[in-house]
Amino acid sequence: MTDKNKPQGDTFAALRKEYVQHTLEEGDMLDNPFDQFNRWFDDAVAAGVPHANAMTLASADSRGRPSVRLVLLKGCDHTGFVFFTNYDSRKGEELAQNPHACLHFSWMGMERQVRIEGRVVKTSAAESDAYFASRPLGARHGAIASPQSQVIPDRQTLEQRVAFVAREQGEQATRPAYWGGYRVIPERMEFWQGRESRLHDRLQYRLLPHQGWIMERLAP
Ligand SMILES: Cc1cc2nc3c(=O)[nH]c(=O)nc-3n(C[C@H](O)[C@H](O)[C@H](O)COP(=O)(O)O)c2cc1C
Repeated sequence: MTDKNKPQGDTFAALRKEYVQHTLEEGDMLDNPFDQFNRWFDDAVAAGVPHANAMTLASADSRGRPSVRLVLLKGCDHTGFVFFTNYDSRKGEELAQNPHACLHFSWMGMERQVRIEGRVVKTSAAESDAYFASRPLGARHGAIASPQSQVIPDRQTLEQRVAFVAREQGEQATRPAYWGGYRVIPERMEFWQGRESRLHDRLQYRLLPHQGWIMERLAP
């Protein structure tokens, strides 16, 4: 076996790190999970965690086959977690078939992760319009021109489409119907803090009918 074909298991095994930065106690947690999320989000930004608002979005098609990708969190309040995208993209099609999603934040600079699960609704047209209008002009032209997730012949085709939109619409570029926001309305939110010897802290909020949010500790 040549070196090139040597199994890389040793390299992976050598990447072993203890998580020792923080602990997570029930008494540290805010009553409302959205407030708790915003507190951790602010911590991540203050600590300089790169791309703190980048989150993995998992969707699944009608047969339950999953797919994931990164999107940017553009809002979090007591109504849910908002991101924007192309409604005709692969994720858009999957969310139309199966309006449930899981979001995942990886803030490893703080040895933390957050998992959010819930149903998904489109944001109102007014909310999508307002966000679209706030984007730089180039990003607006790109969003209009790009048939996200479709096969295209080459890069040049894409650039020609963008140039066409820029010529036709200029500064007036308004949101097309196939582009807008989604809001994930959580039923479950888990806060994970890495601990020594893999005995991590995991505190989960779960929304119960008629009771509201309860908090539970999960085994690591
Ligand atoms: C850091 C980062 C942020 C991204 N943010 C978005 C976003 O907010 N919305 C979006 O549609 N795609 C975003 N993308 C691109 C997506 O990851 C993905 O390639 C695209 O949405 C198509 O996904 P789909 O084919 O599964 O629908 C981002 C990619 C990265 C790496």
